[in-house]
Amino acid sequence: MKALILSGGHGTRLRPLTYSQQKQLIPVANKPVLFYAIEDVIEVGIREIGIIVGPNANMVREAVLREEWDAEIEFIHQGEPRGLAHAILVARDFLGDEDFVMYLGDNILREGIVGHKEHFEKGNYDASILLQEVPNPSQFGVVELSEDGKTIKRLVEKPKNPPSNLALVGIYFFKPVIHEAVRHIKPSWRNELEITDAIQWLIDHGYRVGWTKVTGWWKDTGKPEDLLDANRLILDDIETDIRIHTNARIHGRVVIGEGSEIDESTVIKGPVVIGRNVRIRNSYIGPYTSIGDNVVIENTEIEDSIILQDSEIRNAGRIVESLIGRGVKIINGTSHPLGRKLVVGDNSRIIL
Ligand code: G1P
Repeated sequence: MKALILSGGHGTRLRPLTYSQQKQLIPVANKPVLFYAIEDVIEVGIREIGIIVGPNANMVREAVLREEWDAEIEFIHQGEPRGLAHAILVARDFLGDEDFVMYLGDNILREGIVGHKEHFEKGNYDASILLQEVPNPSQFGVVELSEDGKTIKRLVEKPKNPPSNLALVGIYFFKPVIHEAVRHIKPSWRNELEITDAIQWLIDHGYRVGWTKVTGWWKDTGKPEDLLDANRLILDDIETDIRIHTNARIHGRVVIGEGSEIDESTVIKGPVVIGRNVRIRNSYIGPYTSIGDNVVIENTEIEDSIILQDSEIRNAGRIVESLIGRGVKIINGTSHPLGRKLVVGDNSRIIL
C-alpha cells in the first residue's frame, strides 16, 4: 500500500499565519501537523509516500526533508488546489495500480490508522472511509447510512441540511478503481472535484464502500480554535522530558528542550512543551501551552496557547487562548506617548 498525503491549499481560515506559512506546517505541541500524518502512515508499514504540494511547495519539501523518515517520500505538484479528487488525478503516476490511503495533512487522529487499515483489507472493500459524530456536520462531508446502519447510502459535501451527524474524517482507503471514479465526476458548485462525489460514484456503480468509526479524538486543524484544541489534546498525552538544569518551580508533565534557560522565579504548570534555546524569566507558563524554539518570555503569564519560534514577549500581562506566529514581538513598553502601538498583519485578531 502507498500513501498520498495532502499538503497544499491556501489555508485562508488560518490567516494571517498562512500568508507566510503552509497551514500543514504550523506546529502543534512543537511538531508540524503534517508530521503526525507521516508518522501514522509509516506506523502501518507504508514505505512509499507521495506528498501533494501547492503554493508553498519548497517550504513543505524543506521541512519534511530536514527530518529522517523510514520511508521514501516523493513530492507531487498540484498547481491550483482543485479538490481532493483532483489530487488523486495529479498523483496518478505515483499511485500506479496499488491500494493507497489518502490522508489530509491538516487532520490529526490520535489513535492512528492501524485498525482502520485492517478493516479495509480484511473486508476486501473497494474503498473504506473513517467517520465520526460531530456537532457541526454542515462543515464537513456527511454520510447517510442505510436503515440497518450497515452500509453507506449517500455522501454529501458540506450539506445545508445534513442527513446525519456522521462526518467524513480526512482519511480514506482506496483500491485503484477510484481512478476510474475520479475520471467520471464533474466539478462541484465550488469548482472542485470532490472526493465525496468520487466515492458516491463507487457506490452508484456497485462497488463496496466500507466504513469505520473513529473512537479516539480527531481534529481537522482548519481554524485557530482547532489548532488550540489539537494542542490541548496532544499535550494531554505527553511525558516529562527536561533536557536542562533549572531551578524554576515545575509542576505536572513538562518537556523542555536543550539550550533553554529558565530562571528560578518562573513557575511552569504542565502539560507544557518548551522548545530549544528558549529564555524565560520571571514568568508563569500555565497548562496547555506550547512554546517554539528561540522564544523569549519575560514578566508575563501565558496559558493555553501556542507560541511559534523566534517570538519575544515581555511585560505583556496575561495571555490566554492565543495563537502567536513566528518572530512576533509583544512588548509592554514605557516610552511616550503611552498607549497601544500595533504593527499587525492583515486579518489578524487582537482581543484586548
Ligand atoms: C475536507 C473534505 C470533507 C471532510 C474534511 C475532513 O474538507 O472535503 O469531506 O469532512 O476534509 O477534514 P475541507 O477541510 O477540505 O473543507
